[in-house]
Amino acid sequence: MIRPTLAVLLLFAVQSITVGDEPTSEDFGKTKAGQSVELYTLQSGKGLIAKVMTRGATLVQLHVPDKNGKSDDVILGWDDVAGYESEDNQYFGCTTGRVCNRIAKGQFTLDGKDYTLAINNEPNHLHGGVERSLDKVVWKATGYTRDGGHGVRFNYTSPDGEEGYPGNLNVSVNYYVPKDSNTLTISYFAKTDAATPVNLTNHAYFNLAGAGSETVLDHVLRINAATYTPVDDTLIPTGKIESVSDTVLDFTTPKRIGARIKKLDDAATIGYDHNFVLNPQDDKSKFYNLAASLSHKESGRTLRIMTKEPAIQFYSGNFLKRQTGKGGKTYAHRSAICLETQHFPDSVNQADFPNTILKPDEEYKTSTSLQFGIMQPPAAKSE
Ligand code: BGC
Repeated sequence: MIRPTLAVLLLFAVQSITVGDEPTSEDFGKTKAGQSVELYTLQSGKGLIAKVMTRGATLVQLHVPDKNGKSDDVILGWDDVAGYESEDNQYFGCTTGRVCNRIAKGQFTLDGKDYTLAINNEPNHLHGGVERSLDKVVWKATGYTRDGGHGVRFNYTSPDGEEGYPGNLNVSVNYYVPKDSNTLTISYFAKTDAATPVNLTNHAYFNLAGAGSETVLDHVLRINAATYTPVDDTLIPTGKIESVSDTVLDFTTPKRIGARIKKLDDAATIGYDHNFVLNPQDDKSKFYNLAASLSHKESGRTLRIMTKEPAIQFYSGNFLKRQTGKGGKTYAHRSAICLETQHFPDSVNQADFPNTILKPDEEYKTSTSLQFGIMQPPAAKSE
């Protein structure tokens, strides 16, 4: 009989963490308006733990192991609802919408009718509005298990006219962590009873060294995009689609984020804050397209982002202002990045961009998968 050695048993214990049958939920406190907020914990058998709350269907914590098996929370956020309701919150981890990113001057025309939205990022509308954008409302949640993995489905019905958008919009956001890999999949669904623009994303701020580390400029990034949408001084796309080659936006091969960022210090974007147009999927039978991959040498952590969306906004945390976050940690300028899969900014005013108008007989359906891993040592050369 072969006897497993102690080392093998220990390895097995580290690699297959026992996962409870159901995702757990706990009280996360109350909003200023007195609404209760719940926090759900989703766990994979490989060490990933995601915590998501009902306010803003927001990703609050995301713990992943490093090359030595040590887990760290790799996204910015707060330990309580008050943090998320404070002025310091720059959309940390939230579901962003009804329309993420910018709409020029907060205006659009649909079916001959003019709509005016809040101007919350002079002179434009940003991330769905002010008081009742999807990141600020409390959603209903249902936890579930599927194939041994943990999920939570959030649902919210945004009434006609909320934040100026037409149509009663029923939105669901589904977070799912499978049992056998360190992956978090976020899927979005929406139905409307009147034509309305919809563009949803998640606004997590990542630092693979652990949230609160001083910089993200040492991370290496690849973006699967040969082109991007240039913007004017107010960060509204000009309508052109231009090549990234010979520019600081060329991430077609892996580049250190800090290598060229200084060249953008005086640009309107004050760093990276660009919409990259993803290269078309080579293999149409594949469900997802690769959007970006990120790695951090010291921790060994890697992140691959797969998506069904046509674009990704790469934002290098240029407006982080040393706010105090989870566990008293400081979130310094450029200490985290957002990689927001989405349709192009201001699509509602740009006839040549992929459509973002949802009609009553259609279903909005999209999905993005965050796949965490560990950097592999270079393969030994064979003789
Ligand atoms: C935008 C930035 C903005 C940030 C706000 C990003 O999605 O691209 O311009 O400052 O969100 O948190």
